[in-house]
Amino acid sequence: MATLVQYLKSQDVESSLMEIFLAFEKAVKEIAKAINFSDGGYAGSQNASGEEQLALDILSDQILEKAFKKTEKVYLVASEEKEEAIILNENGQYSVAYDPLDGSSLVNVNFAVGTILGVFKFKEFLGKTPKEMSAAAFAVYGPRTTIVLSIGNGTHEFTLRHSEFVMTRENLKIKENTKIFAPGNLKAAITENWYRNILKYWLDSAYKLRYSGGMVPDINHILVKGEGIFAYPGTKKEPDGKLRLLFECGPMAYLIENARGAACDGKISILDKQISSIHQRTPIFIGSKAEVERCKM
Ligand code: F6P
Repeated sequence: MATLVQYLKSQDVESSLMEIFLAFEKAVKEIAKAINFSDGGYAGSQNASGEEQLALDILSDQILEKAFKKTEKVYLVASEEKEEAIILNENGQYSVAYDPLDGSSLVNVNFAVGTILGVFKFKEFLGKTPKEMSAAAFAVYGPRTTIVLSIGNGTHEFTLRHSEFVMTRENLKIKENTKIFAPGNLKAAITENWYRNILKYWLDSAYKLRYSGGMVPDINHILVKGEGIFAYPGTKKEPDGKLRLLFECGPMAYLIENARGAACDGKISILDKQISSIHQRTPIFIGSKAEVERCKM
């Protein structure tokens, strides 16, 4: 079984991108340890989106920032836990965006959580689209620690075994149709009839529910099982929903599309959405192609 490093070498990735992934891999191992051994309490502060930060959110953010800074390859960094993007190294050619610990409120109940990463070979995020990323990845901290990544030619899973990430699934493939659903933001159905109708269709068609409340494990479920639909719609009051384009939906869309799935905001592909601010939100429907199509308005 190829290790993550061996896989990247076999793909002739640029040395800078390789270093960025080595830093990510190292940070993921550290975050996995921090989840196991550190305090699960609140930090007493809020992130840029006004959500309460856990001590673990801040620690994970610091672990990633430190790891990327050390590479000297990263120019700009944007994190869900930071108000603004910050310059890490004037000579860096890449910009990285991450959600350090997505679903962190699920740590206390011992559900799976994750880290999401998007990598751009630009010195700016604004005006770019997720399609322009050079790579994307997420880590899942569950019964096992895994990294799912894509450098634009397929999406692959690596599992932490004896301190090394080794490839456990090559070229994940998502079926066009599915009977598994992960419906986020259910309360949107109170005001949005179109969402209520889709939910009714899924229920009447006996779809199987697989929803954990964490975007990373929910999307990972789709990738590993090879089918499914995850939805997080907006409402008339909050048309952009909750999830962020740069830190969450963009990288996830890149990984899912590289596994033959699709992702849209109800109208256009998530990969084609222009990033106009780093904390920009978007509705999302992601997973099996035919099911994503059904969610288009
Ligand atoms: O953005 C964080 C997150 O926890 C996602 O992982 C998850 O899909 C979503 O929020 C769930 O949000 P809520 O429970 O508020 O609908």
